[in-house]
Amino acid sequence: MTQKPAIQTKMKGILLAGGSGTRLYPMTLAASKQLLPVYDKPMVYYPLSTLMLAGIRDIMIISTPADLPQFKRLLGDGSQFGVTFEYRAQPSPDGIPQAFLIAEDWLDNCPCALALGDNLIFADHLSAALQTAAIRPTGATVFAYQVRDPERYGVVSFDETGRALSIVEKPKEPVSNWAVTGLYFYDNRVLDFAKRVKPSTRGELEITDLNRFYLEEGSLHVDRLGRGCAWLDAGIPDSLMEAGQFVHTIQARQGMLVGSPAEVAYRLGFIDADQLRAHAARMGKTELGRLLMQVANTVQPTG
Ligand code: TTP
Repeated sequence: MTQKPAIQTKMKGILLAGGSGTRLYPMTLAASKQLLPVYDKPMVYYPLSTLMLAGIRDIMIISTPADLPQFKRLLGDGSQFGVTFEYRAQPSPDGIPQAFLIAEDWLDNCPCALALGDNLIFADHLSAALQTAAIRPTGATVFAYQVRDPERYGVVSFDETGRALSIVEKPKEPVSNWAVTGLYFYDNRVLDFAKRVKPSTRGELEITDLNRFYLEEGSLHVDRLGRGCAWLDAGIPDSLMEAGQFVHTIQARQGMLVGSPAEVAYRLGFIDADQLRAHAARMGKTELGRLLMQVANTVQPTG
């Protein structure tokens, strides 16, 4: 029998996996970026695992009308992972906050997390940080990570006490090297704020503008990810390859999986050992299947 999950949150999650993927042409001319392999799994498995690690079990997958059927084929209704998936199309990539407008009726006034389908986060104790964000009653939580090329991202600056001061999208002259990662947690006012975001000069709704509403009212929590963490945005050929190499290195060296929704589901008590074994068996003779079977046979869930 499936045991009671360790954490309970009424937060829902959106996995945004549309976009045009132009920086990965020709790989994305006929395939969704988020279905490309990152070592031994489709890219979307990684942000999906992250949302599940936060304890979230109601997840909407948004992609392009052309790619949505492939996501359904890969992920099904969610029961294999003890979660529920809902699918919606984004007709054109008009910006990240549009996800909340697309999800309006489904959100049903719940708090909601948003994960970008091409962002991968790995960190020790990540699930504790995520679960804290998922149960925070008001405000928003984002994660910041120090990068060499902050001008490619939303950049956040801090005062001497560590409080977030400003947040600017793709600044020409960044005031810090702290980039905001593609994982956001919002309270139930997110839809109202999303409706107030106006298209930017590049014609898109910007997630930074949504985050600024929370910053200006003093309710934006910015969690800084430290040195031991990895945040990878697999949107260009180099970072796609680096992400694959990173996953390979960890899995080969430690014999532990990263980015496996089935393992997360088992560890958090969303599925039981028999369900995990059945999932592992479906993976055939792969190393992934072997590692999942090992988890089912040796690990006690935390639930
Ligand atoms: P981006 O990498 O900014 O855009 P993209 O995926 O279209 O790629 P490119 O710049 O190479 O053309 O998007 C970040 C993530 O958000 C990615 O997973 C796609 C997703 N996304 C949407 O699903 N819808 C959107 O409207 C936007 C802007 C992004």
